[in-house]
Amino acid sequence: MDPLIRVENISKSFGGTPVLKEIRLDIRRGEKLAVIGPSGSGKSTLIRCLNGLENVDSGTVTIDGILVESTRSVAGRVGMVFQQFNLFPHYSVLNNIVRPLMTVKKVGRDDAAAMARSLLEKVRLAEQKDQYPGTLSGGQQQRLAIARSLSMAPDIMLFDEPTSSLDPELAFEVFETIQHLASSRMTMVLVSHQMNMVKGFATRVLFLEKGIISFDGSFDALIGSSDDRIQRFLRKIYQ
Ligand SMILES: Nc1ncnc2c1ncn2[C@@H]1O[C@H](COP(=O)(O)OP(=O)(O)OP(=O)(O)O)[C@@H](O)[C@H]1O
Ligand SMILES: [Mg+2]
Repeated sequence: MDPLIRVENISKSFGGTPVLKEIRLDIRRGEKLAVIGPSGSGKSTLIRCLNGLENVDSGTVTIDGILVESTRSVAGRVGMVFQQFNLFPHYSVLNNIVRPLMTVKKVGRDDAAAMARSLLEKVRLAEQKDQYPGTLSGGQQQRLAIARSLSMAPDIMLFDEPTSSLDPELAFEVFETIQHLASSRMTMVLVSHQMNMVKGFATRVLFLEKGIISFDGSFDALIGSSDDRIQRFLRKIYQ
């Protein structure tokens, strides 16, 4: 079967500095891919290329055969959750989901409200529905951001260090939410430095280094890798 996401020889430079170098990557439907690697290795840039937030200099990204040229080309199919939550501060928790459903998906108000309630239930925020994002904890804000992304019914969810701005307890709540989603058929890509999260989540791990994928395999194979660079990276992370 054709891969859902096909990355063919993409390169990207910023100000003359190469950040991604001829990356090739196929992601199958339903796969749970984790991307790890040193800071500045190009992880965020890579996943931003998957939903058109970043334009590639050369090479192509296709999703289900459709060329990703801008966020518009994959609108509604790819959801993304960032380290920063990017919520609408002036909308209530409920309306953070209801409004985009009405404007983007053209869902009627009552249906949108029903869908929003059920999503809030799923991320355990039903009781907070009338609060404003500013009054939520970091973990709650991130779970709302996840619920809002899910409301668009994407086939693919991208997470860029979704728990790195949270303390361990709140990070765990968000992790549980992502873990729960990971049991679904959704295709997911997660950038994270948190190895317990990677371990619980990933069916496949990429190690990105200086814009090149230097490892592509299972979590166990990563841990057992004899590559010096990977072992040094793991020691630093686990210390
Ligand atoms: N918009 C931009 N303009 C200029 N340089 C950029 C831009 N975005 C990224 N870079 C540079 O590209 C390189 C890779 O950045 P990227 O954010 O992809 O790294 P990363 O692996 O996600 O790092 P981290 O783990 O710190 O998040 C870095 O050197 C960064 O400074
Ligand atoms: Mg990053």
